[in-house]
Amino acid sequence: MGRIHVLSDQVANQIAAGEVVDRPASVVKELLENALDAGATRIRVEIEAGGRRLIRVADDGCGMSRDDALLAFERHATSKIRSSDDLLSIATLGFRGEALPSIASISRLELTTKPADESTGTRLEIAGGKILAVEDYGGAQGTSIAVRDIFYNTPARRKFLRAETTELAHVTALVTHYALAHPEMYFELHSATHTLLTAPPVREPSERIYQIFGRDTLDQLLPMAAERRFDHAGLPEPPPWRRDRDYTPPDPGFLRIRGFVSRPELQKLNRNSIYIFVNQRRIRDRLILHATTEAYRNIIPPTSFPVILLFLEMPPHEVDVNVHPAKTEVRFRQQALIHDFVRESIRITLLKARPGASFLAALTNTPTASASLVADSALPDSQPISEMPDSDAPPHSADAASFELAPPAVRPEDQPLPFAGAASGGELSFRPATSRSEVAAEEPAFPNLVAASNGHACSVPALPEGGDPPPSLHSLASLKPLGQLRESFILATNDEGLWIIDQHVAHERVLFEKILRERQTERVERQRLLMPMLIDLLPQQMVAFSTLAEELEGNGCEAELFGPHTIAIKAAPSGLSGAQLERMILEVLEQPATMAQSDNLESARTRIAASIACHAAIKVNMPLDPARMEWLLAALARTDHPTSCPHGRPIALRYSWKDIQRAFQRI
Ligand SMILES: Nc1ncnc2c1ncn2[C@@H]1O[C@H](COP(=O)(O)OP(=O)(O)OP(=O)(O)O)[C@@H](O)[C@H]1O
Ligand SMILES: [Mg+2]
Repeated sequence: MGRIHVLSDQVANQIAAGEVVDRPASVVKELLENALDAGATRIRVEIEAGGRRLIRVADDGCGMSRDDALLAFERHATSKIRSSDDLLSIATLGFRGEALPSIASISRLELTTKPADESTGTRLEIAGGKILAVEDYGGAQGTSIAVRDIFYNTPARRKFLRAETTELAHVTALVTHYALAHPEMYFELHSATHTLLTAPPVREPSERIYQIFGRDTLDQLLPMAAERRFDHAGLPEPPPWRRDRDYTPPDPGFLRIRGFVSRPELQKLNRNSIYIFVNQRRIRDRLILHATTEAYRNIIPPTSFPVILLFLEMPPHEVDVNVHPAKTEVRFRQQALIHDFVRESIRITLLKARPGASFLAALTNTPTASASLVADSALPDSQPISEMPDSDAPPHSADAASFELAPPAVRPEDQPLPFAGAASGGELSFRPATSRSEVAAEEPAFPNLVAASNGHACSVPALPEGGDPPPSLHSLASLKPLGQLRESFILATNDEGLWIIDQHVAHERVLFEKILRERQTERVERQRLLMPMLIDLLPQQMVAFSTLAEELEGNGCEAELFGPHTIAIKAAPSGLSGAQLERMILEVLEQPATMAQSDNLESARTRIAASIACHAAIKVNMPLDPARMEWLLAALARTDHPTSCPHGRPIALRYSWKDIQRAFQRI
């Protein structure tokens, strides 16, 4: 007798459910996406016991006829695509016809639905994939699906569920993401006892951010919007001899980007605050994450991450969404174009704003282990939330440690956030991520929303006017130096208020950009040493030297082998000599592994430039005459990023005129 047999539908559905549903949040995701595809304007989500007891998603969308409602629970039954051609241009969030049968196979499910054009609707009851009841339903238009006792018939999977508060945090994060992506819609999220989110429709994405996160977060974000035409869409075109006379080539369409990126002083310890949506679908994508890291390179420290909300829109044929079982990854047809467009759009936004840190912001904004956007400190009754940072991210970057100065703004901290009132009365705990990639894969949590649980819904009707304008470094050009503080910081004023400029990092930024500019035209200034300088190297430093010798030379540092373990420096970038020169060389040869990769030439280049700039720059405890201070401020004002030094530390802090008046109680 043969050993092979075909599995029953029920087992096949449970296996499919393994890919589609791994926790309550993934059920919520599928139901939310169905509601969005159904054209809903209002979505209400209810959760009990972190989703173990109940998940209910109700919408006012198009509803289903009875036949459709029954068919929806068959595998591969969908209204969203018909043929394989449709797979090339999917414009809906769903397309597989797998979500509902999968969810129904591992839970007790109740569906009520009514389309607009029918007087009676349908109520279905299903348990473990079996239909138990089909009845008339007399409610309003739309669909409501209640999923109870998730994994009740697959105990092995139920064991993988985490604490109720963790599951609730994941659901909250998810609903928040979709609320951010759809400001025009009404979103509600309720737990058994609390309202966690109420977001009535608003016109602008910024108003939605304000509704959810509050004014402080909004002030720390810079709006971004850009578009470009796709050069060559890669659309299949008939050959010339097959084209009709009135043939018009297909429109390549536009690539549009909008969203928000954080000012450099807002830093996070992991990537959990980077949200990427492609055609309104929330995705994880290494390519775009890489582009965001590139955009912030030399603006924030390499161990810190920005907060980013990115909405990319492109013609559906430019992106393949059928590459991941849970639809959380996509593949772009023109990867390089998209990568560079994202990087440049963010860079230009940062460049235009040239944001500067205010005193208070710089003191309080340390990179946090928070898994979400900034905490809303105005929330009542907070309790600590314990969180862990990236385990492979060193708490202090090696670069930052090499500075004599240690400003508070770049020391990643692993302190519990001052929250209170966790949703179910207990303490929220977040699973520590074990690696960078896992951090990226983890669904971020929104503790501040969960914390807003004691009846304080996060809905605020309108964005208030006014407030102190966020500091901008455009006005640096008008600064007049007053003098030095401890021969380390320049005090200066202009119409905006009082400024303190860190003389070392300011000069470092000036030199860094100068070296990079000169490097591009192969004209980095150098000086011959009277006597070659000999430096002994360790074996791994010798390896690093062999890969970097050419790049070092391009940067004005001529060095050659002098013995098996020794190199001789014959010329150095101008401004560098003696111990500083030796330290710079050893620093550059420190991290060979990451630099040996060919695609990292640019990062090697910027690292060398940053190192030279750091060692050649004016030091702290160095008296400067007024002319030199004026020169430094003017040179800083001309740089592209006067915000932060190449290692990401702030350069200039502003005490605004308003702050000063407020402090003296004049306003
Ligand atoms: N909230 C809803 N309102 C109206 N119709 C719905 C709703 N939810 C599901 N449907 C219908 O049921 C069908 C099956 O839903 P299901 O989620 O299983 O598959 P899908 O959305 O087509 O694809 P995917 O598996 O990728 O989500 C949908 O194609 C849609 O026609
Ligand atoms: Mg679906």
